[in-house]
Amino acid sequence: MKILITGGSGFIGSNFIKYWFKNHPEDSIINLDKMTYAANPRNLVEFENSPNYKFVKGDILDEKIVDELVSQVDTIVHFAAESHVDRSIDDPSLFVRTNVLGTYNLLMAAKKYQIKRFHHISTDEVFGTIELDSTDQFNESTPYDPSSPYSASKASSDHLVRSFFKTFGLPVTISNCSNNYGPFQHPEKMIPRSITSLLSGGKIKVYGQGLNFRDWLHVEDHCRAIEAILLNGKIGETYCIGGLKKGTSNMELVRLILKLMNKGEDSLEYVADRPAHDNYAVNWDKINKELGWEPKYDLESGMKQTVDWYTQNQIWWQETKKEAEEFYIKLNSLNK
Ligand code: NAD
Ligand code: TYD
Repeated sequence: MKILITGGSGFIGSNFIKYWFKNHPEDSIINLDKMTYAANPRNLVEFENSPNYKFVKGDILDEKIVDELVSQVDTIVHFAAESHVDRSIDDPSLFVRTNVLGTYNLLMAAKKYQIKRFHHISTDEVFGTIELDSTDQFNESTPYDPSSPYSASKASSDHLVRSFFKTFGLPVTISNCSNNYGPFQHPEKMIPRSITSLLSGGKIKVYGQGLNFRDWLHVEDHCRAIEAILLNGKIGETYCIGGLKKGTSNMELVRLILKLMNKGEDSLEYVADRPAHDNYAVNWDKINKELGWEPKYDLESGMKQTVDWYTQNQIWWQETKKEAEEFYIKLNSLNK
């Protein structure tokens, strides 16, 4: 395959490129990435001299670059997005431009060059929220009901992708995945923020009372799910992807991190809650039945590996950690 990966220098994209080259060394990859604050040039240094890998610094909103690159590939795996809910609350405009218009731009080029597969990476956040006391789970038929500008922009992009299948017959697939964690995640997100705060002598910030829940999935399991869809997924279909354990509350999550890092509850600080704070859980029966995928990591072993990675790779996160905490200080001062 000749694959165009968008946003390959971010968290999931860079894990996916590593995964793909390990398992499909004969394929070639072009990585188109704008290198926003969320990208880290250190993520993919090992491929710098690889003949199968090309990095292009550019914006998916740039029609000329997109046209030129799409003309060279048969497959697109579209990760590029503004991805942080708290930033979308601070300033939604870039979310609409990148996530909606950027996706539209890629779709138009994919249609022009009759791409064999356009795989769109999306999120379970498009489905909205699950009530705190409910054991419901999202699935492929759940109506869209996004809560944040981030999830609304991802929902819009999903609709556009589906419309290009229905209207133009573009061979698309979509995956809606739950929260990922693992190596190379930006320290603005909950798990790396918490681990790096403890490693820096600080405290974990818990939003509200820590009751909200997520469906955590190790990033490598997500990469295997995307592989299964690319190789055997049915054109025009959506696949929901989630972890082994449903309804992990933020309190349960931070207690696991505290245990793994030998810290006590005095390392927790309760802070103001996020507006429109959702809860997520995903039913992944369809991808399991149709493509045989299931997660490999349980939360405890995945979290141990993640804590070890952040402990051993402090140079990777120290600079971005500073910027992330500056962002949170600004966000908090605006909300006062
Ligand atoms: P990330 O923020 O770590 O990385 C995003 C990457 O996209 C960065 O490298 C950034 O430079 C690049 N990018 C941003 N705007 C761009 C533009 N205009 N042109 C080109 N590149 C641009 O995000 P992530 O966590 O790796 O998420 C990747 C995708 O997976 C996103 O589409 C996100 O919605 C989706 N997703 C994420 C999660 C999660 O838990 N992180 C869960 C489900 C789905
Ligand atoms: P986050 O990593 O931002 O992912 P998302 O909101 O896209 O799911 O947040 C995960 C959960 O952790 C969410 O319920 C908000 C909460 N949270 C905290 O309690 N403290 C924090 O410092 C952050 C960043 C998030």
